[in-house]
Amino acid sequence: MDLLLALAMALALFHFGFPLSYYLYLKRRWLNKPWDIRRDPSYRPRVSIIVPTYNEALLIESKLDDIARQDYPKDLAEIIVVDSASTDGTPGAVKKWITSRRGVEVKLIEESVRRGKAHALNKALEVATGDVVVITDVDSAWLSRDTLASVLSWFSDPLIGAVTCLKVPAGESFIGVERSYRDYYNVIRLGESKKFSTPVFHGELAAFRRDLLVKLGGFPADIGADDSHTATLAAISGYKAIVVDNALCTELVPRRRYHTWRIRRAQHLIQHFIKTLSLLSKAPREFKPILLAEMWLHLFNPWLLVLGTIILIYKVLIGSLVALILLVIGTILLMLKQYRTWVVTQVYLITASIRNLWTKEIIWEKQEKEITS
Ligand code: GDD
Ligand code: MN
Repeated sequence: MDLLLALAMALALFHFGFPLSYYLYLKRRWLNKPWDIRRDPSYRPRVSIIVPTYNEALLIESKLDDIARQDYPKDLAEIIVVDSASTDGTPGAVKKWITSRRGVEVKLIEESVRRGKAHALNKALEVATGDVVVITDVDSAWLSRDTLASVLSWFSDPLIGAVTCLKVPAGESFIGVERSYRDYYNVIRLGESKKFSTPVFHGELAAFRRDLLVKLGGFPADIGADDSHTATLAAISGYKAIVVDNALCTELVPRRRYHTWRIRRAQHLIQHFIKTLSLLSKAPREFKPILLAEMWLHLFNPWLLVLGTIILIYKVLIGSLVALILLVIGTILLMLKQYRTWVVTQVYLITASIRNLWTKEIIWEKQEKEITS
């Protein structure tokens, strides 16, 4: 076999082999280990729940209902809705909700100009008084009435800086792709958390120790993945930032333009890891390999697949039968769901890195979400 073909195969082998080994390592070595955290299940800190909104009139009231239904002492909780110049009457819906429901304290902040989610979160942070700040997207749901209490109880350990929920899929369309994506990533997120911390957080429920958040300067407004990046900064400064297995959340999946949505999310994660690159040397010893692996997976690994494929196509064009067979095998394998999901994710990451060259999507177009009961 010639050198180019061998190179293409080596690239493919590493591209698929690395994430698989990382997954198996976390699954076998860490996933089932007990938590090395002193959690007091009865710990009840004061909490500020921040809900950022942009054109969420359709969903905001049920989201507030959901939060109010949580089994958590009302006098220990406040909700802060921060709206950025919605044009669909979202602030009005919030005001209506406030007058009709009692018991929970709700603050409404109205920005007159939309500058993005992170900017809005920072505005809310200025008036937050809780020991812990929880961020939650309107298009998300917490799966049980004690989700909030479960998440907050982890903060009884002073080493915990940030906590996020475990994500399970919801919604009808594209559920297949979403589901396998989550299964694989949940093992990784939990494994990383048991080892030390995970650098990927979820907007459905991201909780941060408030004084730490203030010390970190609030949320970064120059990149999209405000939650993941802030959690990573917490972990770099020695706190733990973890996904926990006793708090489940779900997110509505867009009805239309699913790919646009996935690409934007990938863009945000890539921005986060690029911004994290320069901080790598400051990361605690246990966190460094996790960060390195995730940076590799998000920033570099997808390109091995591209390079391998380009080499194969080139070889086919100059008449290599072996290259043709390999390409055909690679294509037929797309019938396997997990393999297909993986390849599609790589396409999102590649498209996202390229798209990041001209637009960062800090302020993104509002997408209609599938409403399921
Ligand atoms: N105040 C405010 N200002 N809120 C906003 C803005 C804004 O400019 N843009 C979006 N939001 C709100 C939405 O109303 C929603 O409650 C939440 O932020 C998330 O917005 P989505 O439109 O649902 O975005 P997403 O789910 O695709 O984004 C996810 O990924 C991002 C990182 O890629 C979320 O998990 C985000 O939290 C996360 O930052
Ligand atoms: Mn969302």
